[in-house]
Amino acid sequence: MSLCRVCDGELKTVISFGQMPVANAFLTPSEFASEYFFDLKVGFCPICCMVQLQKCVAPEKLFHNKYAYLSSLSLRMNQHFRAFAEDMKARYLTSHNPFVVEIGCNDGVMLQHLASDRIRHLGVEPSRNVAALAKDKGLNAVCRFFDETLAKDILKKYGSADLIVGANVICHIPDLHAVARAVDMLLKPSGLFVFEDPYLGEIVKKTAYDQIYDEHVYYLSIASVDSMFRRYGMAVVDVEPQSVHGGSMRYTIARRQTVELSPKVDEKKRLEESIGLHKYETFVRFRMRIEKSREQLQELIRDAKLRGKRIVGYGATSKSATVTNYCSLGPDSIDFVCDTTPAKQGKYSPGMHIPIKPNEDFVKDYPDFALLFAWNHKEEILGKEQEFLKRGGQFITYVPSVSILSR
Ligand code: SAH
Ligand code: TMP
Ligand code: ZN
Repeated sequence: MSLCRVCDGELKTVISFGQMPVANAFLTPSEFASEYFFDLKVGFCPICCMVQLQKCVAPEKLFHNKYAYLSSLSLRMNQHFRAFAEDMKARYLTSHNPFVVEIGCNDGVMLQHLASDRIRHLGVEPSRNVAALAKDKGLNAVCRFFDETLAKDILKKYGSADLIVGANVICHIPDLHAVARAVDMLLKPSGLFVFEDPYLGEIVKKTAYDQIYDEHVYYLSIASVDSMFRRYGMAVVDVEPQSVHGGSMRYTIARRQTVELSPKVDEKKRLEESIGLHKYETFVRFRMRIEKSREQLQELIRDAKLRGKRIVGYGATSKSATVTNYCSLGPDSIDFVCDTTPAKQGKYSPGMHIPIKPNEDFVKDYPDFALLFAWNHKEEILGKEQEFLKRGGQFITYVPSVSILSR
């Protein structure tokens, strides 16, 4: 039996993927034998509606001095974070000498746009290698996990914050109570906490089961986030859907009664009810669609291989670890996965051990099919791979359904 980390309710299992490797742990052959696996299982809490991993991997095993994900590598994410920073500046950072804390600042993809305006800032980033990249950009960053101890230290050194931001990080933190307490401690009375994460409503709608992996401890909805922060005298006061990462939600949290509630919050909460995000049956159907999706992808790939076709994976995303392992896709069906991240190149994918190669290897000898693991960057990728398509190459996708994208 597993209990909800938020309310101690008994979790109802949505899907069990079996033993899975750490999604961002790209390896060398000498590391194959000692590779770490864990039981990847998602549960739904019938009491507070929080969807979450039933067991999670210790954060120190995931975020360390060799963290593979670099936010700045995608053009799209760069644009997104520039706009995010501009929006925060215009709306919330107009007071005299404001102070912003970013949780999980990675290589400084967002913070750089605040620092360039000389806004007082601090990035919190536990993965040493990426924190170093942020510091190399001249940003003020601390290499620690965000928790109450750190909040106390920040408070002592810099004073309270006008704004705390985080992108694709709050859902990574197992102890959400500690996050809420630390935010409460650090934020000015009228301060705001703005964060965004992949949105449960989109994950369910698109059957994007590849969002489920070790780092994503929570699959958040407005209802579950609101109920979590209400325990600490705060509430979701505004929401804004985002198209990045296959569909995210940006939540603005404030202390109750300090900010007027946007009508969008209740409107979107009603939408969540209408799609059944508060009901276990919705997730039973989600599991059935996932199982169907696996059958269809396996069949499409088996068929292509029988016809002697070459298949290459496009984008060694963390998400692809769930797909390749759950669908048993190894180097016998996927020759290699191309990726622009230097730290991933020359290594092997977690669990299935497919070689990772630079994009040049894809361009040098186009395959028949490219399995689009980075489906959330589809427009950017299709835009730059016109030559592949022109020469008859085809992309295979599995979100929202298994299909072939042709020209
Ligand atoms: N904000 C960036 C990075 C997301 S990846 C973006 O949206 O692209 C998640 C980042 O959060 C990683 O860099 C990881 O090291 C960091 N992280 C994980 N747990 C954290 C914690 N408890 N406190 C602060 N950062 C954390
Ligand atoms: P993400 O889905 O978590 O943003 O990760 C995207 C991964 O895909 C990352 O490893 C970089 C890689 N990638 C490419 O290899 N080529 C591309 O054109 C893009 C946009 C991403
Ligand atoms: Zn709960």
